[in-house]
Amino acid sequence: MDAIRIERLTKTFGNGRKALDSVDLRVEEGEMVALIGASGSGKSTLLRHIAGFTASDPAPSHVTLLGRPIQQNGRIVREVRPIRRDVAFVFQQFNLVGRLSVLTNVLIGALSRVSLWRRLAGRFPRGERSLAMESLTAMGIGEHAFERASNLSGGQQQRAALARALVQRARIVLADEPIASLDPESARRVMELMQALNREHGLTVVVSLHQIDVAMKYCPRTIALRDGRVVFDGASERLTSAVLRELYGSSADELLTHRSAPSAHTQASQAFASAAGV
Ligand SMILES: Nc1ncnc2c1ncn2[C@@H]1O[C@H](COP(=O)(O)OP(=O)(O)O)[C@@H](O)[C@H]1O
Ligand SMILES: [Mg+2]
Repeated sequence: MDAIRIERLTKTFGNGRKALDSVDLRVEEGEMVALIGASGSGKSTLLRHIAGFTASDPAPSHVTLLGRPIQQNGRIVREVRPIRRDVAFVFQQFNLVGRLSVLTNVLIGALSRVSLWRRLAGRFPRGERSLAMESLTAMGIGEHAFERASNLSGGQQQRAALARALVQRARIVLADEPIASLDPESARRVMELMQALNREHGLTVVVSLHQIDVAMKYCPRTIALRDGRVVFDGASERLTSAVLRELYGSSADELLTHRSAPSAHTQASQAFASAAGV
């Protein structure tokens, strides 16, 4: 089954610019896909439409998650909660409640399964608590369970957000530049853990990234956006810097910053060499 299926998704914001322009996509269950593109290319907008946070233009279109429509023709479906339960969203700016413990934050992932009276009493069933502890341990932050979330580093907070996805028993993780605010070591850890969610727990992962080298390392498939259009969808290893330059022109540099871009001198001598037929 397709985890995500999108047809003809278009979104025009007030200024008349199309943030998404007739996007068609299919992501199969169990895939780990990178979403890349320069800033403003539509990555966040696309992820927010997939999660059903935002409705598209009122034109024929649909977004279907695990066989169930979440939005159609510019309207979010009425019964959205059971579908959202299957989706965990990870934000760039760690979305934990700072004054609550890490454990409580992770248990929030289980809220949809806990009865109202227990929620009001602030009690979670023992099974949920032990699942939350296990998930925190799996993400390498079990020892921080009882600390306030605000005491954790950014990388640890992102790992708590991934633990919450496990507790929620989500089947799809949508992560919007989850490593953009992290140091390289924390970023590596978070990417590895997302890979573990994908490989060991079978979750479908779509992660927007700024750097193509990270996409290549962790995601077999990359979807590249430019001005709200899908300009590439295929094996990440095919996204060489030459392909990126063809797709993005000078803004390719933004996606290649970790790599050494050819200097003006090299480019000039390459141009000379090809003109000379060497
Ligand atoms: N709420 C909004 N109102 C108006 N324009 C928006 C809004 N959100 C995004 N945009 C515009 O849509 C385009 C895509 O933005 P976004 O999805 O945030 O790109 P990315 O995440 O790739 O940086 C940009 O031109 C941006 O300015
Ligand atoms: Mg964004």
